[in-house]
Amino acid sequence: MCGIIGRVGTDEAIDTLLTGLENLEYRGYDSAGVAVQNGSGIKIQKQSGKVAELKQAIDSDLLSGEVGIGHTRWSTHGPPTDENAHPHTDSTRDVAVVHNGIIENYATLKSSLQELGHEFESDTDTEVIPHLIQYYLDEGASAETAFRRAIDDLEGSYAVAAMVANEHVLYAARQGSPLVVGLDDDGFFLASDVPAFLEYTDDVVYLEDGDVVVVRPDGVEFTTLEGHAIDRQPETVAWDPEQAGKGEYDHFMLKEIHEQPTSLAQAIEGRIQGDEPGEVALESFPPGAFDGIERIQFVACGTSYHAALYGSIAMNQCGIQTSAHLANEYGVSAPPVDENTLVIAVTQSGETADTLNAMRRAEADGARLLTVTNVVGSTAARLADDVLLIRAGPEIGVAATKTFSSQAVMLLLLAQCIIDDLDGTCEDRRALYNDLSGLPDTFSSILEDGTAKALAEQYLGAESYFFIGRGLGFPVALEGALKFKEITYEHAEGFASGELKHGPLALVTPETPVFAIFTGDEDEKVLNNAEEAQTRGAPLVAVCPAGHRAVDIADAHLDIPAVDPDLAGLLANVQLQLLSYHAADALGRPIDKPRNLAKSVTVE
Ligand code: AGP
Ligand code: GLU
Repeated sequence: MCGIIGRVGTDEAIDTLLTGLENLEYRGYDSAGVAVQNGSGIKIQKQSGKVAELKQAIDSDLLSGEVGIGHTRWSTHGPPTDENAHPHTDSTRDVAVVHNGIIENYATLKSSLQELGHEFESDTDTEVIPHLIQYYLDEGASAETAFRRAIDDLEGSYAVAAMVANEHVLYAARQGSPLVVGLDDDGFFLASDVPAFLEYTDDVVYLEDGDVVVVRPDGVEFTTLEGHAIDRQPETVAWDPEQAGKGEYDHFMLKEIHEQPTSLAQAIEGRIQGDEPGEVALESFPPGAFDGIERIQFVACGTSYHAALYGSIAMNQCGIQTSAHLANEYGVSAPPVDENTLVIAVTQSGETADTLNAMRRAEADGARLLTVTNVVGSTAARLADDVLLIRAGPEIGVAATKTFSSQAVMLLLLAQCIIDDLDGTCEDRRALYNDLSGLPDTFSSILEDGTAKALAEQYLGAESYFFIGRGLGFPVALEGALKFKEITYEHAEGFASGELKHGPLALVTPETPVFAIFTGDEDEKVLNNAEEAQTRGAPLVAVCPAGHRAVDIADAHLDIPAVDPDLAGLLANVQLQLLSYHAADALGRPIDKPRNLAKSVTVE
């Protein structure tokens, strides 16, 4: 994971680099560092801790120069110490490198280099890269050739940016980790993600795996590793820099929870239409688009997996054969895949390594790939045959919120296209689509409710928090628990409500509040399971509409408007997002950047 930034321009690079790192910090925040080409060699400053600490410690006079690179790290190899912070250098300090990814053959490369006398200062896999470049420079290669040869030696995943002393040039390469080039009037940017430089330019070129770029003050060359020129066209990104700021909110997470009415409206705009209310029209999937598909497999991780499970259950309930897989287990469990299989990869970032690998595995077996993603031009979008954009706008908080609701809604719309093509059941879903069109307003009404905050405070200090649901309430229970543990650091688990009695009930005490999600489908069964926990002392919180029988039985109530059962779980999820947020806030947690986590997990 981690964020990398590079700048080649006509002005001082340091401020741009630090701003870029701040904007990328959601990708990793174990340590940070910058290197600037200042006319008398390369000057580096790096340390463990956040970008703000680096910024405070920086002496801008020392780091004066127009070409530079920066890094904010999410450690994979070696603890988050000053020594392991990037940029890394060779022994002569004439080469500086930042890297996102994992060099899988680093141990072999390192011992060969050590045998040649190279001395290493860090525990990272990355450090082999500057040493390799130096090795080829010592052999007489030009800087560009040395960089290409070093890249050719690497196995694994990388986005790498490098510079060599006293050359106003950046060299960069990508294989399996994201890298974009930004173009503005005064120069060029390299970055892991567009928000790094969005306030300067929205003209970008997304690199493909295998690309090598050479960035000079007067232009960028896009080439293959062998140096053949390739055509990469600039695109204009639609995100506005304002969207990437916190605005009036204390945290990005709270802002993003509150953005859901807008992000949902954007997601469904123009996609539910036609003469009959409830006709779904997805631009890339006209009638017949899914003819011939015999089975559907979802692959995803974390919150996106919960959205995938939501889509999978909704499709199964309408007679479509689907299965949802954790992307990291997909290759191991190896379900049968052939050319009649549609694999749907759900990924907010489009850069999650586990999900990309599952996609590649399915592609090798002949499957058709579709991705549901938030990021135009992401690796998943480029790998897939078809892309369904969720149009949620940038999500900066590490905890995914607005993208979950948009993913789930897009999967419900996609389900309709698939049901129509494959003659599934549930033909008359007009009530669902009517409620779906009104979902942005329904979400707004929940956001005004203060009960989640009050309950978060009431139950603070509990031993454990349980979330239960059935059918479409089950993925929401999993998501409620993931969000809770991710940002509060308190123990939380999500269960299928019927599973409680098969083991987890042993954990239930008066110190374990149980949040039960009622979708309107088989609620009696959920209520039975919830009461089984309540009988054993657990405080019961019913997440359901007012007037529901569960309200009279439960100890507390989180209200959701009454809607079609396919949507009720998404409303319950908003209440649970608020619950987690307020619990984490009361505990003083760093909500947008929880410990040990990062927004985009680009390593396996
Ligand atoms: C959710 O809050 C997490 N940040 C995490 O589980 C995330 O959903 C997962 O890493 C998948 O990311 P993706 O959607 O970008 O593929
Ligand atoms: N593997 C490198 C390290 O541990 C880069 C990790 C990353 O991509 O964040 O420093």
